[in-house]
Amino acid sequence: MGFSKEFVWGAAASSYQIEGAAFEDGKGLSVWDTCCDWLGFVKDGDNGKVACDHYHKYKEDVGIMRELGLKAYRLSISWPRIMPDGTGRLSEKGLDFYDKLVDELLSNGIIPYVTLFHWDYPYELQNRGGWLNSDSPEWFAEYTSAVVKRLSDRVTHWMTQNEPQCYIGLGYKTGEHAPGLKRGLRECFKAGHNSLLGHGKATMAIRANAKKAAIIGYAPVGSVFCPATDALADIEAAKEATFSVIDQNFFNSSWWLDPVYLGSYPEQGLKAFEGFVPDIGANDMKIINQPIDFLGVNIYQANLACKGEDGKPKMAERPIGYSQTAFKWPVVPEALYWGPKFFYERYKKPILITENGMANADWIAVDGKVHDPQRIDFLYRYIREFKRAATDGVDAMGYFCWSFIDNFEWAEGYTQRFGLTYVDFNTLKRTIKDSGYWYRSVIETNGENII
Ligand code: FCB
Repeated sequence: MGFSKEFVWGAAASSYQIEGAAFEDGKGLSVWDTCCDWLGFVKDGDNGKVACDHYHKYKEDVGIMRELGLKAYRLSISWPRIMPDGTGRLSEKGLDFYDKLVDELLSNGIIPYVTLFHWDYPYELQNRGGWLNSDSPEWFAEYTSAVVKRLSDRVTHWMTQNEPQCYIGLGYKTGEHAPGLKRGLRECFKAGHNSLLGHGKATMAIRANAKKAAIIGYAPVGSVFCPATDALADIEAAKEATFSVIDQNFFNSSWWLDPVYLGSYPEQGLKAFEGFVPDIGANDMKIINQPIDFLGVNIYQANLACKGEDGKPKMAERPIGYSQTAFKWPVVPEALYWGPKFFYERYKKPILITENGMANADWIAVDGKVHDPQRIDFLYRYIREFKRAATDGVDAMGYFCWSFIDNFEWAEGYTQRFGLTYVDFNTLKRTIKDSGYWYRSVIETNGENII
């Protein structure tokens, strides 16, 4: 069995992390532009002003994607680049950039998968409250309509938003990410609810404006628990833990996925967050629960769970000396087995891995190449697990590696390298890493070389 013939092999990146040209051609400010100016917000005082300079080097980058053998590329649109004020006025030059990028991809045989919002929120709208403003779902729909009108004669694959758990949890609650707010739970849930409404309204805007049949998904964090042992009781415990809402943790899956795919917030969450959940309008859940085509999930790691003495799932300890990436994220390849399996069982939609990969301590070796055997081993193990899930009946739609290129890793600046391609951030020279060539062989064989 394994991967179907239609399986999509790709890689991902996002606008703020690679584009640069932050103040060019009339682009409006995003919250990441302004937060990067705060002392201490980003490691080493880094920012995305230049990043990979993809805005100017997009042709070279599409050439690299072609060299990597990618069938698809997951990009995101910078909202303030095409709508400098967040609503209203459009920037022709901004739209032009994405026009050219899409054309370049298509002429190289690479299918664009477009994410509408990957965190670079318009600063002008943030000044009006951002996702806390009850007009924010409409703003997002207006922006979405503009993008879809312009690109949908060529783009057919859309994702509304990337990881609401992060941009609300880290952006509004802990303040580690832009817009850098530290708000109470009541406001975080309000912002979260508006972002979910934004997803629903954007979905309707795509369907209303698309010139070609649209295939729509969403790309939240897939927060996964894997069973600590093979025992059936632990598997059940891991599944329950994956969908449970524990404490005040925003990094759960069901709060962010159930409304979209099932039309309601999870009961357990409504109880846990009683008193903080905003008023839910009569039509809200209907708006959020628009029919969509696939379930995108970003999965990098997982916790472990087992059945506790009280019969409830309990977090299990990791083995001593467990493997970690350069970012200190635990290496748990089974996350790509259990995650897709649990999500597929609950939501019954084709599973697209919209991000997976690792940060590694990469550098140019004396032979001028970049040797990253850890990344090859990491990807091998994770893809093997996803293949096992496909063999066991999960509808596996595709896999996007994060990222095709080293880039600006948010609060970590340029200290974490996730790319299949190395970037010297002083000269902007790109060098395909060993893992990039290896990934090409995986794509060429449709994963047959992963056993
Ligand atoms: C995800 C983000 C992505 C990237 C990876 C490493 O949470 O969606 O932009 O930063 O982590």
